[in-house]
Amino acid sequence: MNLPPFKLERYFAKYEFNTEFLLCSSDCEAMSIADLLALEEGAAEKFQQTWLGYTESQGHPALRKEIANIYETMRPEDILVYTGAEEAIYLFMHAALNKNDHVIVHAPHYQSLSEIAISIGCETCAWPAREENGWALDVNELKNLIQLNTKAIIINTPHNPTGYLMSRADFEAVNKFAQENNLLLFCDEVYRESEYNSALRLPAGCDMGEHAVSLGVTSKTYGLAGLRIGWIATKNKNIYQSMASLKDYTTICNSAPSEFLAEVALRNRQKLVTRNLGIIKNNLEVVDELFTQHPGIFEWIRPTAGSMGFPKLLKGDVEQFCDNLVREVGVLLLPGTMYDDSENHFRIGLGRKNLPQAVERLEGYLSK
Ligand SMILES: Cc1ncc(COP(=O)(O)O)c(C=O)c1O
Repeated sequence: MNLPPFKLERYFAKYEFNTEFLLCSSDCEAMSIADLLALEEGAAEKFQQTWLGYTESQGHPALRKEIANIYETMRPEDILVYTGAEEAIYLFMHAALNKNDHVIVHAPHYQSLSEIAISIGCETCAWPAREENGWALDVNELKNLIQLNTKAIIINTPHNPTGYLMSRADFEAVNKFAQENNLLLFCDEVYRESEYNSALRLPAGCDMGEHAVSLGVTSKTYGLAGLRIGWIATKNKNIYQSMASLKDYTTICNSAPSEFLAEVALRNRQKLVTRNLGIIKNNLEVVDELFTQHPGIFEWIRPTAGSMGFPKLLKGDVEQFCDNLVREVGVLLLPGTMYDDSENHFRIGLGRKNLPQAVERLEGYLSK
């Protein structure tokens, strides 16, 4: 196995903890343990009693019950808890794929969604989001992408980095295509429940049938990345068993304090969603205004879900722009080249409380 550097993570490693304004984060504003525990009466006392032994490898039953509640048809025994979504992606690929399998991947994408398959010896092909169609995928393209050795389709909706939420008709068509062609469908749904109009929320992949695996995490919509709690939900028993078994070689089980805190968080997830969608919606107004003020510099397709968007820089080179911005005024944007995008886009994050101040700094930089 040969894994190249994860470009986005390496970029963040350079700036995340020494830059004043992170204007490209994918996660929503976090909170303290004390604030989280205050969401539920008696939680603070119970937290003190958390037993620090090994925990159940699949995840604590009470936590799996809360996770199952997010879905329509999942039971606690359909849930496997991991250290972040990242571990689950890694182990899904190792459980589901073999050398020479072919995988269709929604593009642009979070790098591990293709890189781990490639490291196993799979061939991957991009299923491109079409900017001219508001970043929609064209389901008709699937029949041209599928090969005899295609094993899986990987999609991410709501989407990192565009903030695109797939339509229900398209989502149903992708599921039908996967089922008819005997393919696994890996649905990265880590931005689920951050739809700006909750009526447009899609069914979860795992509720569509055994062909699908849903990926979730506490990091993004719920703003609790430091818990490092992610999960998969699936009715596919083969994938479930293989992924459970591979975990013995990575983390064995999760952190007991994190599992307790995640259980409290998910039981109170409506409060977290309301708080974080409030921040996103306020920030969207600020960013809308920024782009309206500078039509010659930026072009933007407004996201419909999630905590980020993928505007285009119309003047100059995006890497140079981001580099100057962070060095001169301490505002971090993420160049699209971290996603192998060659069209001068950058990622802007919408989930942090200090976005208005960061945009003010950016405005100052632009006016110079
Ligand atoms: C689409 C997507 N999937 C998975 C992950 C990994 O999530 P975590 O860092 O919480 O493990 C991320 C993180 O940015 C992501 O954007």
